[in-house]
Amino acid sequence: MAQVFRRHHNTLARVFVVGGLLAIVGLAVGGSAITRSPWWTKVGEPPDQPVPFSHKHHYEELGIDCRYCHWSVTQSAHAGVPSSEVCMTCHSQIWTNSPLLQPVRDSYNNETPLVWNKVNNLPEFVYFDHSAHVNKGISCASCHGGIEKMHLTHKSQYFSMQWCLDCHRNPEKHIRPKEEVFNMYYKPPRTQKEMQAMLDKYGIPYDPNNIPRDQLELGKLLVKHYNIHKEQLSDCSICHR
Ligand code: HEC
Ligand code: HEC
Ligand code: HEC
Ligand code: HEC
Ligand code: HEC
Repeated sequence: MAQVFRRHHNTLARVFVVGGLLAIVGLAVGGSAITRSPWWTKVGEPPDQPVPFSHKHHYEELGIDCRYCHWSVTQSAHAGVPSSEVCMTCHSQIWTNSPLLQPVRDSYNNETPLVWNKVNNLPEFVYFDHSAHVNKGISCASCHGGIEKMHLTHKSQYFSMQWCLDCHRNPEKHIRPKEEVFNMYYKPPRTQKEMQAMLDKYGIPYDPNNIPRDQLELGKLLVKHYNIHKEQLSDCSICHR
């Protein structure tokens, strides 16, 4: 047998094997470059919607709380989108003749739900739960950043596994008092004095001789206070059940 595979055959075979591998790696890398590019992931690109709903108008300018419309976000896996009844609490009185709101009025009058196209979505095999995050001080802003400025809703980022894991390994970097979860303008206090005032305000216990100085120190305190076991957050079975 050894005779059949002479030296140059071997080299040829290697060239094929190596070439084949490179092609496969190339495809995989190219493939993931494509699937991770904004063109594929639609980051920053609003999908078509029946009504041009603006978070900038309703949240930033009118100051309507996220929970007014996404009320299930603290109680269930899904944040949900509001029904036309929710819109009509105001739009039966204001902007009643707006042509843009005709689909909302039709939906309300005919009792047929408005169908919004999804902006964010995960593959079927990934488990996600909103309430688990927002009730432990992880803000909408950490995952849907910049929504308060959006005239039309689009994805802030691509939800890759690496992105989920980055926070699961270091939640200290992102966590905030849970009372601040719905505040899109929150910034961690910059001085120990402000830090102390905030901790007092929300009744979060701390060591007066060791008041946190920055987000990381505050994060460590909150991870402990909210009883988050970050060692378990990288287990495959957390997200793939
Ligand atoms: C007045 C009602 C209202 C308020 C207040 C509101 N939203 Fe929305 N939100 C909607 C509607 C309607 C949609 C579906 C249409 C769209 O995508 O723009 C939506 C869609 C979204 C989506 C995209 C959903 C998807 O398909 O992936 C996110 C994320 C979101 N809202 C987050 C927030 C956050 C965070 C806040 C508070 C800062 C907030 N919303 C406040 C009505 C509201
Ligand atoms: C708490 C009251 C309130 C609720 C609830 C509300 N809106 Fe509005 N909406 C307003 C106000 C006030 C304006 C006018 C804002 C402006 O022009 O500055 C407005 C403006 C709009 C406009 C622009 C109309 C135009 O002709 O320019 C659209 C579209 C709209 N809302 C859709 C919705 C939808 C869809 C919902 C339900 C998901 C909703 N709104 C829920 C108060 C509300
Ligand atoms: C830890 C990240 C994270 C946080 C925090 C978060 N979301 Fe989401 N959100 C997601 C992901 C991931 C999806 C897509 C879920 C899917 O496809 O199953 C999503 C989907 C949504 C949707 C579409 C409807 C639904 O239920 O799937 C809305 C609306 C929404 N989020 C609103 C909010 C609001 C409001 C907050 C804050 C109160 C919030 N989200 C906090 C990651 C997050
Ligand atoms: C900004 C930080 C952050 C991001 C981003 C994030 N998570 Fe989490 N996640 C957490 C924290 C903190 C907990 C722990 C909550 C607790 O201890 O109850 C958690 C818990 C979970 C849990 C356990 C829920 C339960 O019911 O016990 C699941 C599942 C999960 N995350 C899925 C995801 C997925 C999927 C993504 C990406 C799409 C993601 N997370 C992105 C911070 C984050
Ligand atoms: C914090 C949540 C989370 C944890 C923990 C997690 N995954 Fe994932 N995983 C995801 C998300 C989100 C995706 C989808 C990514 C996408 O759509 O690109 C994914 C996708 C995958 C895929 C599909 C291929 C790919 O990269 O898109 C495989 C295989 C996978 N995960 C295996 C694992 C294994 C093995 C573990 C444990 C070592 C693990 N995952 C832990 C969130 C998680």
